Amino acid sequence: MKRDFVRIADWSAPELWEALDLARHLKREHRAGISHRNVLAGKTLAMIFQKPSLRTRVSFEVGMTQLGGHALYLGPDDIRLGKRETTADIALNLSRYADGIMARVFGHDVVEELARYATVPVINGLSDLHHPCQALGDMLTILERRGELRGTTLAFIGDGNNVAHSLIEASALFGVRFRIACPKGHEPEAEIVEAARAGGTAVEILRDPREAAREADVLYTDVWASMGQEEEAELRRRTFQGFTVDVELVERANPGCLVMHCLPAHYGEEITYEASRLPNSVLFDQAENRLHAQKALLSLLLA
Ligand code: CP
Ligand code: NVA
Repeated sequence: MKRDFVRIADWSAPELWEALDLARHLKREHRAGISHRNVLAGKTLAMIFQKPSLRTRVSFEVGMTQLGGHALYLGPDDIRLGKRETTADIALNLSRYADGIMARVFGHDVVEELARYATVPVINGLSDLHHPCQALGDMLTILERRGELRGTTLAFIGDGNNVAHSLIEASALFGVRFRIACPKGHEPEAEIVEAARAGGTAVEILRDPREAAREADVLYTDVWASMGQEEEAELRRRTFQGFTVDVELVERANPGCLVMHCLPAHYGEEITYEASRLPNSVLFDQAENRLHAQKALLSLLLA
């Protein structure tokens, strides 16, 4: 039976640990110059993008190359998903050519539909609701830096968005304590919060970033207006005043607190440039770890 990676909660904790362990192994061996070009030799990943991307596109494409396979970029104007052809037909066609599909979409239902109809594995490369590859790479980054995940307190400052949702689901499975400071009306989806709480995870929703930062081991932020919300950007800039991760906020957190951001960053809005360049700011480790985490996923799903 084929497996998909559409949201973090689709996988169990042991399955996610298997991916993290494999990611660490692949990263170590890659650094030692050991080739993995036999792992996916001759395999193709079709990559559908309804939205722009730097990290996701490049890390998946480079990852496939390093595993001996090939990645095919299908941009918004190529297949015109849902406009030129139905999502189901695209999934059925791509399944006849490619060994896996990665998709970055607007509606989360689109990636769910791709997964339902495709006969090959489907990986969510970001939807309006989830960004599971980001959360997996981020757990790898926290694990490398702290040596453990369980018991870590992660404070997310800003919008209860796709990245926050995947971090909540990952926190629940890895035993991370999650809290978010957000303006009223920008809370994460209640269904996702309740599911995490039902599994015994502490998920706190706060209004004050300084309260959230207290005793935090990780301060995480993301843009105030996500892709597709460009028209709300001005309004959101006003709504999110006071939700900037700056050096003063970092100093309120635990000593050695990691500063994280999935990128792209809008410096001076959700994070100051100074805070992004502190010794414990790991933004570019996060970007690199997308590669290693996704190589692990691809190896598990496509090999
Ligand atoms: N963090 C992330 O997914 O970056 P891109 O939007 O550039 O892919
Ligand atoms: N929340 C952001 C994440 C970008 C990687 C967005 O959806 O645009």
